[in-house]
Amino acid sequence: MSAGRAVVTGASRGVGAALLKALQGDGWEAAGTSTRGGAGLIPLDLLDPDPGPLRDAAGDRLDLLVCNAGVLLEEDGERLEDGFHAALWDRTFRINVTGAFLCVQACLPALRAARGRVMIISSQLGSSEVRHAGRPIYRASKAAASNLAVTLSQMLAGEVAVAAYHPGWVRTDMGGTRADIAAGESAAGLLDRAAELGPETSGGFYTWDGRPHPF
Ligand SMILES: NC(=O)c1ccc[n+]([C@@H]2O[C@H](COP(=O)([O-])OP(=O)(O)OC[C@H]3O[C@@H](n4cnc5c(N)ncnc54)[C@H](OP(=O)(O)O)[C@@H]3O)[C@@H](O)[C@H]2O)c1
Repeated sequence: MSAGRAVVTGASRGVGAALLKALQGDGWEAAGTSTRGGAGLIPLDLLDPDPGPLRDAAGDRLDLLVCNAGVLLEEDGERLEDGFHAALWDRTFRINVTGAFLCVQACLPALRAARGRVMIISSQLGSSEVRHAGRPIYRASKAAASNLAVTLSQMLAGEVAVAAYHPGWVRTDMGGTRADIAAGESAAGLLDRAAELGPETSGGFYTWDGRPHPF
């Protein structure tokens, strides 16, 4: 895949920052977002999104949109009886699911013009095949994010390729210091996955290192 124009959401730190750097290093004209903007990043708060700056960054033709911004808001040890408040469900879904959809919608004309690609950064924790007794809000939101990738791949078939990705267990603010891989390693893998994304792979769910992942 030759380098083109790319936008990465949630590029202030973690996987998004590493992916933005990797894309720029690979010759892409790549822009990133953060909630407040600044430091060369576009302001985009998915709790109250203004699509204008994102549309401007996408321009007339956008080859790659990476919906990476995400949150995990549940505290360890929350009790099923009285934890997991409605506000956490609302906030998580607005960022992890609705937010991703609204970014695709905002960039759609530019993605269509370039016959571009959309990578939705989901998580293995969103897979129904992974047994994990906890984090119900995050898990449900990432299941929805993976499902969104499938639906969008169908709605945009022949125009824009869309797939979901597990970035690995990554040492970031979210993943923690005990995680398996560094953000740069995840980003390098995701860059390879971007090159593979097309009509044949659209609608799938893949790991950062290229293995199909069960939904
Ligand atoms: N780390 C892991 O092990 C792991 C595993 C599986 C999946 N993932 C997924 O990979 C993606 C990146 O994770 P990460 O570990 O790099 O997370 P991170 O270090 O916590 O970074 C999160 C990014 O999302 C942005 N963000 C947070 N709230 C936002 C909002 N309201 N509007 C717009 N942007 C917002 C942050 O921007 P600000 O700096 O401006 O707040 C930041 O750039 C997420 O979707 C996550 O669910 C991560």
